[in-house]
Amino acid sequence: MEKIRLKNLYRSLRAKYPSVMDEDFKYIFARVFGSFSKIFLENPAVDKSEAQKIETIIHKHLEGRPLEYIFEVAEFFGFEFKIKEGIHIPKNTTEFLIERVLAFADEKMKIIDIGCGCGNVAIVIAKLTKAQVWAVDIDDRALKIAEENAKKHGVKIKIVKSNVFDAIFEKFDIIASNPPYVSTKEVLSKSVLMQNSASLFAGSEGLDVIKKIIQQAPLHLNKGGRIFLEIGYDQGQKVSEILFRNGFKNVKIHKDLGNIPRIAEAEF
Ligand SMILES: C[S@@+](CC[C@H](N)C(=O)[O-])C[C@H]1O[C@@H](n2cnc3c(N)ncnc32)[C@H](O)[C@@H]1O
Repeated sequence: MEKIRLKNLYRSLRAKYPSVMDEDFKYIFARVFGSFSKIFLENPAVDKSEAQKIETIIHKHLEGRPLEYIFEVAEFFGFEFKIKEGIHIPKNTTEFLIERVLAFADEKMKIIDIGCGCGNVAIVIAKLTKAQVWAVDIDDRALKIAEENAKKHGVKIKIVKSNVFDAIFEKFDIIASNPPYVSTKEVLSKSVLMQNSASLFAGSEGLDVIKKIIQQAPLHLNKGGRIFLEIGYDQGQKVSEILFRNGFKNVKIHKDLGNIPRIAEAEF
């Protein structure tokens, strides 16, 4: 089999596909060859057929498929999670939800994550707090991947299929959720639309699932417990009103590092 130096392969493909973002290009090479520094330090000779493998990945990516779906892995809070097409890809913005929860949580608490997706939020909280953590989702595929990720990370979390709290009969100290909060009126890119629509859209104002969580929450929170919700940039006012109407106090809308309203926190 004919060989090519990795650096040369990188340079020739980089020149052939200028529209691929530099960081995506580096990510693809790092995923396929183990480490990006290997290219520049070791510069091993690889089979020329590797070029075809990389080009197939680049074509899928250029068609709009997120790299997370191509490699079936997503990074979140410094950890790797298995992911599958149709399941929500964890976002950096949700790391702020974890930070807010960690500022309040301790190991004696019972915590529930509503809409767990691949389990990233629940698993990171369980890993870092040692609290008792539950995770629910309405989607069987997400629940299966969440189980696999919990095993991969060696954490014991209770994973339950439920439409918000419909199948839950327990009380908690913390409710955390990154629910679907996009309005059905919003136009999203093809790569975002490859995610399950139930993980994104929530009615004409994007508030349907948030409302259901907040309305059911009082039955599932211990006195003094807190709710933490990731929200859309323009939903702070409406979510605050829904929280007050359902008996919550000390409602705060936290802005992220980009100064965008991102997390609603309230005390019960
Ligand atoms: C935006 S994703 C969040 C995934 C993950 N927790 C994260 O933050 O990356 C929303 C998740 O909520 C789930 N979901 C949507 N409606 C739901 C409902 N009524 N009850 C429970 N889960 C729901 C979706 O299946 C999806 O996995």
